Amino acid sequence: MNTERNMPQYPASYWRESVSLPEYPRLNESIKTDVGIVGGGITGITAAYLLTKEGLNVTLLDAGKVLNGVTGHTTAKVTAQHGIIYNELIQHFGKEKAAQYYQASNEAKQFIEKTIQTHNINCDYKEEDAYIFTNSEDYLSQLEAEKDAYDQLEIASELSGSIALDVPIKSALNMKNQAQFHPLKYLKTMTEKAVENGLQIFENTTATDIDRNKHPSIVTREGRRVNCRYVIQASHYPFYDGEGFYPVRMYPERSYIIAVKTPKTFPGGMYINAESPTRSIRSVNMNDEDLWLIGGDSHKTGQGESTIKHYEALQDYAAKQFGISEFKYRWSAQDLTTLDKLPYIGPVTKNEDNIFVATGYRKWGMTNGTIAAKIITDRILEKDNPYRDLFAPSRFQADPSVRKFAKMNTDVAKHMIRGKLEYTNDNVKNLKPDDATITRVRGKRTGVYKDEENQIHAVDTTCKHLGCEVNWNSGDRTWDCPCHGSRYSYTGDVIEGPAKEPLNKVDLE
Ligand code: FES
Repeated sequence: MNTERNMPQYPASYWRESVSLPEYPRLNESIKTDVGIVGGGITGITAAYLLTKEGLNVTLLDAGKVLNGVTGHTTAKVTAQHGIIYNELIQHFGKEKAAQYYQASNEAKQFIEKTIQTHNINCDYKEEDAYIFTNSEDYLSQLEAEKDAYDQLEIASELSGSIALDVPIKSALNMKNQAQFHPLKYLKTMTEKAVENGLQIFENTTATDIDRNKHPSIVTREGRRVNCRYVIQASHYPFYDGEGFYPVRMYPERSYIIAVKTPKTFPGGMYINAESPTRSIRSVNMNDEDLWLIGGDSHKTGQGESTIKHYEALQDYAAKQFGISEFKYRWSAQDLTTLDKLPYIGPVTKNEDNIFVATGYRKWGMTNGTIAAKIITDRILEKDNPYRDLFAPSRFQADPSVRKFAKMNTDVAKHMIRGKLEYTNDNVKNLKPDDATITRVRGKRTGVYKDEENQIHAVDTTCKHLGCEVNWNSGDRTWDCPCHGSRYSYTGDVIEGPAKEPLNKVDLE
């Protein structure tokens, strides 16, 4: 057996593995700053870059390491082609707003391009056409309607029956002159520039709350304070809700990426299919060879059974379509979708004018994160921004997805109750290394993981956010919450919010 074709045992993102990033200290004292940013992904770093350039004093906190969240685990397409969306946006919001959404994404691409030129950043930036393809009769009319929407919005595109990528298709819609890049090479330079301009970064510093006095204070788990004039929550899920009810206005989805070498030469372009399961395909150049990134197979967080099976589905697809000569990396990412599919960018509630949120990117974070940084920093710098109202979190538009959402919230209730009643009777003693089970300990639902040194790690599976029950994610070795997407390591530490506190540890003795 050629072991090079086997799936790597542990998940690791190519982006993270191919760039070395400096380490930053933990915040050990209370400090004062103009703008406190929580979250060191594309939104937080871009905002820090823009604000420090204008001479503001900026402090950025990250609960883990900078650039290790969703931004470190993306497919990194810089495109306004966000799946099939424009026809829906025209139907729901009208042509003008749909055009604004396109324009905002386009400006994000131009901003990225300009920043790369200004600082001469070597980040593998490459213009490529983006394609949505389908091999299903059911999606032909949707692609035609989307092409019609492109024409109405004057987006340069072509609908055709063939593409250069060797996959079976019935139709494909392209969007010309989009781009791809290495997001961490790009953001590493932006971070350096911001630090040169005075940005302070603190890692391993979890923000748990915001104290609202005349000016807001970010409160950390250790009780330190960052006293600010403005706070930007760029932490994916807002850790401070301000009664904006974000948990019921968004749902999390997890998707997967594998990076493989194949016997074929990548033909250029960036691809995504229209049907389910999603297949998203692009390449990166690794040591003068094509590394194929194949992503998709998304599902609601905490509700995929064994997550390894999602990686296997991508592996099977890649092997069948292209052949796999070497399996280099696999990783997964989670993102949030809002009620009407547009991100929430702006004041966390209508009544706040100095606490901002940026979330709900629907997996298109490279452009949406850049737009968010621009909208929020323009607001802080008291500049107009044409997209402010479009993305304002306080908007409300009745949308067909609201009905779907009501169902999703029913799902949440179901997970709160069902998780508490159902458990398996697997015997902890028979647990194999690197495996987990759920059992009852003194009447409490308990998640038990045995690591490769046969060390047992047992946690109370009640999520610290709003009390749903977490499930084991065997692909990433994490406990994932099905309700709002909190994720915990096997020792119970928070990897991704909205939860702020670790799962309680359980003593099995
Ligand atoms: Fe909300 Fe777990 S993330 S209950």
